[in-house]
Amino acid sequence: MLNETANIMVNQLYLGDNLEVLRQLPSECVDMIYFDPPFFSNKQYPMRTDLQQVSGFDDRWQSLDHYLQWLKDRTIELYRILKPTGTLYLHCDWHANAYIRVQILDPLFGGKNFRNELIWHYETGGIPQRDFARKHDTIFRYTKSQDFYFNPEAVQELRSEEVLRRLATGQKNATRSKGQWRHPSDVIQIPALNAMAKERVAYPTQKPEYLLAHLLLASTKPNDLVLDPAIGSGTTLVAAHKLQRQYIGIDQNPTAIALTQQRLAALVDNPIN
Ligand SMILES: C[S@@+](CC[C@H](N)C(=O)[O-])C[C@H]1O[C@@H](n2cnc3c(N)ncnc32)[C@H](O)[C@@H]1O
Repeated sequence: MLNETANIMVNQLYLGDNLEVLRQLPSECVDMIYFDPPFFSNKQYPMRTDLQQVSGFDDRWQSLDHYLQWLKDRTIELYRILKPTGTLYLHCDWHANAYIRVQILDPLFGGKNFRNELIWHYETGGIPQRDFARKHDTIFRYTKSQDFYFNPEAVQELRSEEVLRRLATGQKNATRSKGQWRHPSDVIQIPALNAMAKERVAYPTQKPEYLLAHLLLASTKPNDLVLDPAIGSGTTLVAAHKLQRQYIGIDQNPTAIALTQQRLAALVDNPIN
């Protein structure tokens, strides 16, 4: 499908190194970017999928400097591709978040365009014996200028619908507390996907659709164009499709592309999970 404003094909998936693909995209054409790169976790993530395709993804690096250079090269392209009114969300965690903000994002976007450090708080994960348990990821939100779109009411509405759904199905934490209806805060409490979750497709590091819905509703309007340069299981694209946003997705892992195609093909007009 052609996006006439940007004059590019949208609702497309690209298989390949995102740096190469990003270099082919025109400048200032997307409204929002969600980038969930490897976190410098020093792990090799295995794949468990019935698609019979090779491997997961590797998050092992020669050094922190190599990782930061890899990320910087891609973030420079993302900045170029983002519209002057656009928003970047960069998802990371304690492994490198301090370096990412200070060494990459602030210099590129300018400190005045740093808007939020969002905390995605969840309960899953291990319990270290000699440290506090790590129960959050960081999502940096930067805009390209002071002229940007932000719709907190849409996020409030999403959260109200979620509370009503939980109340209706008698789920835990279904109290309709005052906080659920207030201006959304920078702490987003959403359970990480467990093995039994309905939307689970067994891609390591798969994020919940509901988390992406928050970001999409806050920073885009229907028909806006969203870019995810590391789609993994395709969560951003699935949420974008359900919310009638256009999208471009990239991943170098053929399994990620195949899983995302499957998820998109299976979509009927479901509400966000
Ligand atoms: C943290 S996962 C993304 C998970 C995704 N947000 C989801 O909800 O499933 C990171 C992804 O980056 C991809 N990736 C890593 N290096 C890449 C590169 N140079 N080009 C394109 N994709 C890359 C990996 O294959 C992996 O799917």
